[in-house]
Amino acid sequence: MKLHQTTAERLLNVPLSHAPRSYVNAFVRFHHPCTFSERWKAAEDAGWNVFQFPSEMLRGGDLLSDSGTTTLTLEQLSAMLLGDQAYGSNRGYFQLLKQLEETFGTHTDAWEIFLFHQGRAAEHALFSQLGSCAPHAVIPGNGHFDTTRANIEANAMEAVDFSLPELREASPHPFKGNMDLVRLGAFLSERSRDVPLVSTTITNNTGGGQPVSLANLHATRRLCDQHRIPFFLDACRFAENAWFIRTREQEYGALPIPEIVHRMFSLVDGFTISFKKDGLSNMGGALAIRKNSLLCQRFPNLLHRLRDHQILVEGHPTYGGITGRDIMVIVQGLKTVVTEEYLRSRIDQVQSFGRMLRERGIPVIEPFGGHAIYIDVDRFFEGTSLRRSDFGGISLTALLLLKGIRLCELGAFAFGKVDPNTGEDRFPPQNLVRCAIPRNTYEQQDLLSVADCIQALHERRAQLPRAVPVYGRELPLRHFKARFELLPTPSSPTFAPVPGYVS
Ligand code: F0G
Repeated sequence: MKLHQTTAERLLNVPLSHAPRSYVNAFVRFHHPCTFSERWKAAEDAGWNVFQFPSEMLRGGDLLSDSGTTTLTLEQLSAMLLGDQAYGSNRGYFQLLKQLEETFGTHTDAWEIFLFHQGRAAEHALFSQLGSCAPHAVIPGNGHFDTTRANIEANAMEAVDFSLPELREASPHPFKGNMDLVRLGAFLSERSRDVPLVSTTITNNTGGGQPVSLANLHATRRLCDQHRIPFFLDACRFAENAWFIRTREQEYGALPIPEIVHRMFSLVDGFTISFKKDGLSNMGGALAIRKNSLLCQRFPNLLHRLRDHQILVEGHPTYGGITGRDIMVIVQGLKTVVTEEYLRSRIDQVQSFGRMLRERGIPVIEPFGGHAIYIDVDRFFEGTSLRRSDFGGISLTALLLLKGIRLCELGAFAFGKVDPNTGEDRFPPQNLVRCAIPRNTYEQQDLLSVADCIQALHERRAQLPRAVPVYGRELPLRHFKARFELLPTPSSPTFAPVPGYVS
């Protein structure tokens, strides 16, 4: 008698501790062999600045950013070959307009789309034009990303933060990225005339990649309507945010991801997006605005001005600074990013890395976000003599370079400032190191190895050196430019390369 299906099912009904990834590798790139001493020299030459360290010398995991670092799918690579490099109206442009409409509901009769080479160029366009129409205006948000804030401030406007207090606390809140509606409401009651738009970032990168609920988006929309203010999204990680809505917001648990995305975007008058995140591409960005929005009524020339700006700085509107090939990549990326298979694998990988760190005793921000795990640097160095002004986060990321691992300090140094009057350091509320996971790139083993290395340094935390900025301490955006020296603390050993100390 043949084996019956139900018998086979019973035989195989065993819980698996590891689910397979939803993809296999189609290409691989081997790491360059590199010795500890070679990395030591390169790190010293780079002034221990992770951005200046040659990526070819990395080995375990380059977790500097999830932006533009996606490994492309075969569908994307083959679409890329069909990319049309015509200067005007390349074939990918029309496919992209269709795809944007399918993904976000931006029908071209109702929406104006501006393409840019990346997200910050779209932000620059929006805020430079708004800044000249409405100088000294205020842009409230749930936690502006640093380029967004910088673009608002560079155009003589003010960026104000209405993130939840829970964002900075050890709270299990499932939507820590939400806008604080009580504070926003109070602010708008007083200052609505100064506010050209309200912007919600999904997911909230600055606050730890934390999601925003659909209920919060609805409530923000209502509040904006009460005050007749346009509502925008910074939509870089829209699909990851939709996944959290599906899995954490009961009401929407049965909805397919594309439907949740439609509902999110149906609430807004416009959005900026970097396709380098959930566009699953290596380049590209856009600004989309509803033609009949309050924003366009309030600033009737805005769309024309934006178009002129785009042509001046990016090129013809039909490519807007993105190559025809990358446009094809984005079209495919937007199709993949909302699939169940992709998103489950993506979010599971990030969550599982978070658990690896937690199990190893590393203090991390919880609940885990969508694209990155954030180490709490103050708690990491608890019980040691290192203070915030010793920039332990920089020291940790600098030492990990020697193991071929790259993380990013987003804390006391990156967001700190020097008080121009006193020359003293001013620190941000949170002191974090971010481990951002590139999409479709690393395997469990890579991340386990990163977790082991961080654990080893955590166990030796009292011996870690302090990082002393020797260049760039006073500069704006100093984390990109600064150079450091690593100096011993009273408890750290004399810090010198010991060949063979780490393999
Ligand atoms: N908005 C958010 C929320 C971002 O995370 C980023 C970039 C941007 C806007 C700007 O987009 O890089 O295409 O110009 N974040 C990257 C990161 C750089 O590492 O988090 P971009």
